[in-house]
Amino acid sequence: MILYRAHLLWSNSLTELRDIEDGALLVDEAGRILASGLFEEVAAQCPRAEIQDLRPHWILPGLIDLHVHLPQYESVAMDGLELLPWLKTHIFPAEARFADASLAKAAAQRFFGDLLSLGTTMAVVYSTIHQGATDAAFIEAERCGIRAAIGKVMMDQNAPDVLSEHTETSLQQSGELIQQWHGKDAGRLLYALAPRFAPMCTPALMRGVGSLSEKTGAYIQTHLAENLDEIAWVGKLFPECANYTDVYRQHGMLNHRTLLGHGIHLDASERAMIRAAGATIVHCPSSNAFLESGVMPLRRWMEEGISVGLGTDVAGGPTLSMWNEMAMACTVSKIRSTLLKETRATVKPTEAFHLATRAAALSLGLSDRIGSLDNGMDADFVVVDPRRVDPAERNEDAADRVLSRLIYRADPRMVKATFVRGKQCFAQGS
Ligand code: GUN
Ligand code: ZN
Repeated sequence: MILYRAHLLWSNSLTELRDIEDGALLVDEAGRILASGLFEEVAAQCPRAEIQDLRPHWILPGLIDLHVHLPQYESVAMDGLELLPWLKTHIFPAEARFADASLAKAAAQRFFGDLLSLGTTMAVVYSTIHQGATDAAFIEAERCGIRAAIGKVMMDQNAPDVLSEHTETSLQQSGELIQQWHGKDAGRLLYALAPRFAPMCTPALMRGVGSLSEKTGAYIQTHLAENLDEIAWVGKLFPECANYTDVYRQHGMLNHRTLLGHGIHLDASERAMIRAAGATIVHCPSSNAFLESGVMPLRRWMEEGISVGLGTDVAGGPTLSMWNEMAMACTVSKIRSTLLKETRATVKPTEAFHLATRAAALSLGLSDRIGSLDNGMDADFVVVDPRRVDPAERNEDAADRVLSRLIYRADPRMVKATFVRGKQCFAQGS
């Protein structure tokens, strides 16, 4: 049993931030938070616990990245193209190299190591079409201790030859990976089926994905309504469907375990389908800006009751930092509301923090395990030093102001340590 003493900060809802100045987390051998609260009260519950005094650092729940591409990490920041030519020029050649599983293993080590160093404790990850590379990603996630949902990309039409699969092979290999990994290590590792996006998936593949998800409880991750040329292409390929979202709905891919990347250009009927299915839109503001895809009306989608989370979408987004993604969500909402003269449309750092923690956990159906520092949660948390992001090096300040600086002025040196299920997976300087 270990008792971590620090300033605790987490989000209960979009409007409710919890902070405990002299707080403590009591974590058991299984990595679960047995108690969280005032230091004195928690310490009294277990006088024999080893005390780790982390003051003046703060403890926050680990950040959750709901959309990121492992094999694209080394292709970040290739500026100048929109989605479809960018995929062809930079991304598909990079993904083709993952046919080599040893290259995939080395890339996975760098990728998960960097995520942990930035305070991300869970990521929902696209691999490539390669079963070996996907297996290597799981093996590395298992080793380094991060929590992850990972999936082999699936594409059986309109993909470059080297990245094309047969429908049956794609479903068969995905099924094998689900058997092998979904739920492993008491649910730390999960499977997220990854049909890339409608233009590169046949109806048979999408139907197969829907039934695999239904049968096994695996998540589905895909892209939706990101770019206008992409949307026009989907219209040509699927004329019998009412719109892009309807393609996924008609082929059984929309359920409460579906994570839809981007979702920028959606009409009211599409939003109604997503809400009815209980699917989640993963907002990727850095990527949307970088690839000039558009500006998603974040506030509007949230007010309509759609489940929303955040994703870095590396390499669409140029960094793995969820701090940066939270800042972008806020900044982009400000630019949108200024340009369009919308009132009350801006998103605050406390709200972005909620999206990156508690809301993400809710969207994954994991809110009883992660996303907050409440009793009974798994001890997935990040230790930060707020003095690193304050020119005056203040430590004690109102929690919302500290959070605002951590987000807008994020600096990798502010992350002191990252824990997943009570295990320290990253420590600065070690
Ligand atoms: N749409 C289809 N594939 C991709 C991808 O790899 N990245 C992004 N941002 N959009 C996509
Ligand atoms: Zn993506």
